[in-house]
Amino acid sequence: MAREIVLWPHKVLTTATQPVTDFGPALEKLMSEMLAAVQEAKGIGIAANQLGEPLRMALVGREDGTFFEIINPRILERSEQITLEEGCLSVPDEWEKTPRYKKVKVRYQDKAQQWHEVEAEGRLAHVLQHEIDHLDGHVFVELLSGLKRSLIQERMKKYQKFLKRKKD
Ligand code: CO
Repeated sequence: MAREIVLWPHKVLTTATQPVTDFGPALEKLMSEMLAAVQEAKGIGIAANQLGEPLRMALVGREDGTFFEIINPRILERSEQITLEEGCLSVPDEWEKTPRYKKVKVRYQDKAQQWHEVEAEGRLAHVLQHEIDHLDGHVFVELLSGLKRSLIQERMKKYQKFLKRKKD
């Protein structure tokens, strides 16, 4: 079974992650654990802090179902504001229209420390914004109205209680 995904709200999800400086075997191991977790959860992206590891690294799903790593990513440009239906593995079963940008330009490293720049739009741009937000210590819930946010927070509290009862 894959490693457990941390649920919102949790400090590791609301704190900015640390830049990756060690590209050794521990990073590769974490990447493969993230891959297993996102595939098991049928997600399209996952950030390292969702497994409790405060590192600036995420996996982003391509249309064909494969994933690529973005390490130390930064958004260079954003354009065309839109709202998109969004959910998150750390906020299960919650889907809300969320303000985003249609296009982004992102700079990131791969596991071989090579830098890349990608100009993305559509689904890829959406996943990149969501995952980089995670790495900055933000979840999409923060972009919603106060009312929606508190309703989700209430449901998450109940859900966490339910999970705890199941474990006890
Ligand atoms: Co997420």
